[in-house]
Amino acid sequence: MKVAVLTGGGDAPGLNAYLKGLYLSCKKNGFELYGYLDGWKGVLENKYIKIEMDEVIREFHEGGTFIGSSRTNPAKDEATMNKAIENFKSTGFNVLVAIGGEDTIGASSKMHKAGIPVIGLPKTIDYDLEGTEFTVGFNTAVNIVMDAVEKLISTAKSHKRVLVLEVMGRHAGWIALYGGLAGGANYILIPEVEVNIDELTEFIKNRYEKGYKYAVIVVAEGVKISESQKYEVVDEYGHVKLGGIGELLAKIIEDKTKITTRSVNLGHIQRGGPATSYDRIIPLFLAQKAVELIKQNISGKLVCIRNGKVDVIDLHEAEGKTKKVPVELYEQMKTYFV
Ligand code: F6P
Repeated sequence: MKVAVLTGGGDAPGLNAYLKGLYLSCKKNGFELYGYLDGWKGVLENKYIKIEMDEVIREFHEGGTFIGSSRTNPAKDEATMNKAIENFKSTGFNVLVAIGGEDTIGASSKMHKAGIPVIGLPKTIDYDLEGTEFTVGFNTAVNIVMDAVEKLISTAKSHKRVLVLEVMGRHAGWIALYGGLAGGANYILIPEVEVNIDELTEFIKNRYEKGYKYAVIVVAEGVKISESQKYEVVDEYGHVKLGGIGELLAKIIEDKTKITTRSVNLGHIQRGGPATSYDRIIPLFLAQKAVELIKQNISGKLVCIRNGKVDVIDLHEAEGKTKKVPVELYEQMKTYFV
């Protein structure tokens, strides 16, 4: 049995744990494991390596993915889809294990519908993949944001400033909400809930009046605000230079409260470095389940965590969907915005 694996989309801490889990579970069953290089790009270019014990053991502790990743999506049009299918069939691989977020899992679902045996494993630091309580990288990203919030609180206090921390989460505010709550941020803004600038600035002014002369605000990168235009910066050629939402928000807060406000964009630091224990252990469980399915000749499934247990859903259940933060949860968590 020849099993192929790819890691697609933005990288995430813990991907190498999936690769270790898959390699050792395959080895136990006498299967060979091959890794496509740079995600679906490797499928389209027919580039892959045979995965060996030494690198699996060596890379387990490292962040990122040792087989590389890319945002190449084979499902973008019919021609690329056909190319991916044709290339996969030419290799003699029996099954493809695709590790990724919605783009990769969506493409996997389409490949499976086209007759390719595919099994999906969940990955995205954004945590916005439907159907699973675990996506590798999210827990690590939350811990990184927690750490950043704590550090910002101490410097904000010293300078009696407002600090705005922009975090990842283009479509969903999971990282902002969880990381912000864990770090003790004073206020959190997520894309799922419309921003009320007056409420935010009143909140900050109130804190200062009560004697708490600092504030740390966490904002997800996907947050949009209607005031954007008023604060647009025009470059020397007359082109609008839009900063990130964090920068924009800092300008608005300073303008409305007259309190010195700075912004920090945490960026790719949230995806870098080694994984937390959780992001190393769960992939080992899920990889083992994926190989069990392969043994039983089952494909078209996403191996996931549901109700706290290793479980399996159909790939198409996660296709084309984004798991958002429920507005009720956000409203409940506002109790802790103090
Ligand atoms: O991995 C998901 C994500 O972190 C998004 O939150 C972010 O918008 C995007 O990746 C940025 O990644 P890249 O710069 O690799 O395209």
